Amino acid sequence: MPFSIPPGLIESLRKARAVTVLTGAGISAESGVPTFRDAQTGLWAKYSPEELATPEAFQRNPKLVWDWYAWRRDKVASVRPNPGHLALAELEARLPAFTLVTQNVDGLHHRAGSKNVLELHGNITRFKCFDDNDPVESWHPTPEVPPRCPRCGGLVRPDIVWFGEALPVEALLAAQKASAESDVFFSIGTSSLVYPAAGLPLLALEGRAVVVEVNPNPTSLSRQATHSFQAPAGEFLPELVAALWSR
Ligand code: APR
Repeated sequence: MPFSIPPGLIESLRKARAVTVLTGAGISAESGVPTFRDAQTGLWAKYSPEELATPEAFQRNPKLVWDWYAWRRDKVASVRPNPGHLALAELEARLPAFTLVTQNVDGLHHRAGSKNVLELHGNITRFKCFDDNDPVESWHPTPEVPPRCPRCGGLVRPDIVWFGEALPVEALLAAQKASAESDVFFSIGTSSLVYPAAGLPLLALEGRAVVVEVNPNPTSLSRQATHSFQAPAGEFLPELVAALWSR
């Protein structure tokens, strides 16, 4: 069903000098990526994410945490970017100063062709050393699980921001700047509950950006947003792209 896209939004996007987009788990829902909590099925149902996604959990039982991420990594590898991810890559190609900020760790924005992506919560396909936080690209083959950092012998862990850990400072500062300076800001597929990401649309509103929400369910942002579309991202965003460049 076609969405009614207000002419005012088309005009704001055509005039915009800077556009910032924040995405959350909802943008990947139509690809079939289980959300954090939905991921707790089958073998893993007896563990809560807090028991698996913390530095303490990794110290307590590194193999358990490694195996959970390996399972989630396999799930992500088996799905593909959906029309919502692809529409965002197209918007980036056609609009000036486009920044995509994501809370997702699935890497699907990169796979869809997005370039200027700030990953606030890390990426499940990358690794780092538990002891010194430096990136680990590869390791010597070993039956040991998790493997060891080839430089220092520390345990290798996923490059994910766990509960209780700080967000990557540079990415967060860049996201805050891009939000505050944007002319149009999109909040897509996020429940707007988890800070500091949930503060980004508020920075955009303070900077007088046009704020657009895309989410089938209302959130705490819905009433403040300039435009709130209660729709699945994979259906709404391709129509927005079509409306922008067909009229
Ligand atoms: N299109 C757009 N939005 C959707 C879709 C869809 N097809 N399907 C679901 N949604 C919306 C839901 O209505 C919900 O508001 O996506 C949102 C997902 O919310 P959360 O699961 O809370 O995900 P997110 O906001 O990304 O969570 C933030 O919290 O769990 C931690 O670290 C994890 O990065 C995550 C953070």
